[in-house]
Amino acid sequence: MLTVRAPATSANLGSGFDVFGVALGTPADVIRVERAPETRITITGAGSQYIPEDPEQNTVGAVADALDAPAHIRIDKGVRPSSGLGSSAASAAGAAVALNALYDRGLAREELVPIAAEGEALVSGEAHADNVAPSLLGGFTIVTDDGVTQVDASIPVVVCLPETTVSTRDARGVVPETTSMADVVDTVGNAATLAVGMTRDDPDLVGRGMDDGVVTPERAALIDGYDDVYEAAIEAGATGVTVSGAGPSVIAVCRRRDRRRIAAAMVEAFDRAGVESRAYQTRVSDGARLYSK
Ligand code: HSE
Repeated sequence: MLTVRAPATSANLGSGFDVFGVALGTPADVIRVERAPETRITITGAGSQYIPEDPEQNTVGAVADALDAPAHIRIDKGVRPSSGLGSSAASAAGAAVALNALYDRGLAREELVPIAAEGEALVSGEAHADNVAPSLLGGFTIVTDDGVTQVDASIPVVVCLPETTVSTRDARGVVPETTSMADVVDTVGNAATLAVGMTRDDPDLVGRGMDDGVVTPERAALIDGYDDVYEAAIEAGATGVTVSGAGPSVIAVCRRRDRRRIAAAMVEAFDRAGVESRAYQTRVSDGARLYSK
């Protein structure tokens, strides 16, 4: 039996819509695999009641098919579905790492990215790699049509997850189809600033580069209490705040010493909007980790 811990991820980071992603220290899915004549999936943990165990309808079943690696796959969900924290991507990435090892397929982590992304396509309708790439490779990732660029990073973050859900379909529905040249110029500048900030582990640069006036305002409107949560996090010391993935999680970048204060301020702000939430005080971290037991 092999076990993999596959981390939650936060995609977009504001200015990097469908391009940027980071691996988070917590939460994570734990995936155990064992060879079997046919793929069977068992799911426990956060939100497991909403995830189909039928391999035909589960990201992980698609990954097992793609690797020709039938197995009994047990998934213990730490990452709740529809959270904006790459829930299905964590399972897909974890299964890809586990099954690649179980069947000695010998594929590199980079080669597993498109395989795990295909699994993602099964649930979201589109093959986004901006969550599977950081869950597989760790750190900060930049996904384009030409491939994935990865850098190690360890910026402290707080991720606040409200007890509400936003469907990726709804969140994609509000993305504007066109934008102005002025917005393009702003976005390029911010995205470049953020990327440099990641290479330097500099929370000021990363926070500044998270600003986005194109997609984030539309999506923020789908999250009850967002504006107050944003302000509260900034007042408590966050250097940048934005919607995590398609939402409803909100991610704040900061210095380590400010994490606890920011976490409390974000939870209180959601509370004022009548929404319960929990905050993860974590950092940008490593990708999926394989254990042999
Ligand atoms: N980049 C995607 C989005 C990630 O924001 O829609 C969602 O899984």
